[in-house]
Amino acid sequence: MRVDRLLLPQLPPGRPNLVLAGFMGVGKTTVGRRAADLLGMPFFDLDEEVERSWGGPIPDLFRAEGEQGFRRREAEMLEAAARISGAVVAVGGGAVLHHELFARLAGSSVVVPLECSATELALRLGSGGTDRPLLRGGEDEWVALRSAREPLYQALGAGIDTTARTPSEVAQEAVERYQSAVEPSSALLHGGGSAVLVKPGAVHELGSALFRVLPRVERAVVISERGLGRQRRSVVEALRLQGLTVRATSTVGGEGGKTVRGLAALWRRLAGFGTDRGDVVVAVGGGALLDLVGFAAATYARGIPLVNVPTTVLAMADAAVGGKVAVDFAGRKNAVGCFFPASLVICDPELLGERSPAVWVHGLSEIAKCAVLGSPLGLALLNRPDGPGSCARLAFLIEQAVRIKLAYVAADPEDHGPRLALNLGHTYAHALESASDYHLAHGPAVAVGLVSAARLGAKLGLTDPELAPALVTVLGRVGLPVAPPPDLYRARIADAWRADKKRRAGRDRVVVPADVGSGAHLVQGLAPEVAISALWVGDGELGLLP
Ligand SMILES: NC(=O)c1ccc[n+]([C@@H]2O[C@H](COP(=O)([O-])OP(=O)(O)OC[C@H]3O[C@@H](n4cnc5c(N)ncnc54)[C@H](O)[C@@H]3O)[C@@H](O)[C@H]2O)c1
Repeated sequence: MRVDRLLLPQLPPGRPNLVLAGFMGVGKTTVGRRAADLLGMPFFDLDEEVERSWGGPIPDLFRAEGEQGFRRREAEMLEAAARISGAVVAVGGGAVLHHELFARLAGSSVVVPLECSATELALRLGSGGTDRPLLRGGEDEWVALRSAREPLYQALGAGIDTTARTPSEVAQEAVERYQSAVEPSSALLHGGGSAVLVKPGAVHELGSALFRVLPRVERAVVISERGLGRQRRSVVEALRLQGLTVRATSTVGGEGGKTVRGLAALWRRLAGFGTDRGDVVVAVGGGALLDLVGFAAATYARGIPLVNVPTTVLAMADAAVGGKVAVDFAGRKNAVGCFFPASLVICDPELLGERSPAVWVHGLSEIAKCAVLGSPLGLALLNRPDGPGSCARLAFLIEQAVRIKLAYVAADPEDHGPRLALNLGHTYAHALESASDYHLAHGPAVAVGLVSAARLGAKLGLTDPELAPALVTVLGRVGLPVAPPPDLYRARIADAWRADKKRRAGRDRVVVPADVGSGAHLVQGLAPEVAISALWVGDGELGLLP
């Protein structure tokens, strides 16, 4: 057996975070929640995240591991926060003590220090609302602690005084600071040959974004899925508002449309519209439609620039970025295709429409996969009781998944090495999909594959044994399966596994997670039955199945 490390490459920058810093009691958490609502962003309180990951309140953590144990976990959370984008983050009062980590977080954020008069602070801290270990020494001690840290807070720049002000007033001022400091263009992600805009209402910025990416284009051909009239109209309107001449047509979506016949029909439409390389093709639909239209654009007239407007979570978080386009052929998925990155991708959760599993839930497995590879806080958000409930949270989760995919794509455009990390859970998924004659959809199959890969990694001593049960909880909570369908026989799965095209030079390879947020391991030469058995072993966990 051979194991290779698939490290997480540098992530492309995303929308800056708003970071609230300052001494305990100045109101970072209360103000942060309000600012997050005003900005339509998710909110992270790093002290709460430390409590969640440790599994108990901070005073107990101090008792169990001392301040040192707390600071070590606080550092891990700062590292994780420095990797996210487009969120409001409240850091602990002592976060500024981690100079290098805090500087890294500040590098991708707008930092707003909050301040408060000593008198009012004494009242707030004296009210005994929260049990704070560092207050146990009484007022003299925290006054000394505060003045010791004062130079670090002042180094963050002019603060907002919260004395005698309501949290809403302070939040409004912090938001105004953020908005005046952030360039609108910072919302565009770049990597792997694509520019990507992820936010609710992004379709309304399609025209201006297209002009930034393809300034000379004058005509567009919009190809959408049948049945997605609302989405197609929003796209056509945005392009016409930008002054483009637009022709629109539709085709069958879903796996059934991803065929050579479908491809030829699109070539004929493009010919019929007199499309040439000065134009742009805009694909509107799920992952299957994007693969089909992308391959048509890649091949017609030796390549017409492409814009992707995905309409499912899976397509937004995965299929729309990375440049892989293909059709199914001779019973094999994606058998005929090429690499052709879209010049622009518009991910707008408001285009999802109905909350059907195929549109909303299936893609959460790809989001969970990317979170395991590169975003502990993304996984934490997915694991919250109300999970990815709002468009704002979903946009955040999609943005993190897209940044992680773009990082691997930029490091390995044609899938020869590091990018294999993105196959986490997919060797299992492809075997399950094929063994089920594709009755099991890609997203649910990836969910089962993720849990199995984590279980296999634990068995091989490469993955934290806590991860598989944690994924069973996270994926089960959002409505995804965590074990193979009971009617799918092991033998069929084993046959499908062996037939999988991922095998190279006859050696089996499977990707397992490393620590959450730090990439993966590529395991080669493992006997298939050992890998496959991870689909079922661990009766304890099986007991958790819904
Ligand atoms: N190119 C890549 O890198 C890549 C990556 C992952 C998956 N894929 C491909 O993507 C496909 C899976 O994508 P998917 O999960 O989006 O499935 P899908 O494209 O099959 O869409 C799922 C179903 O939802 C319908 N639909 C799409 N958007 C809708 C909306 N907003 N409202 C209502 N219905 C809607 C579709 O017609 C289809 O019936 C597979 O073909 C897979 O191979 C490609």
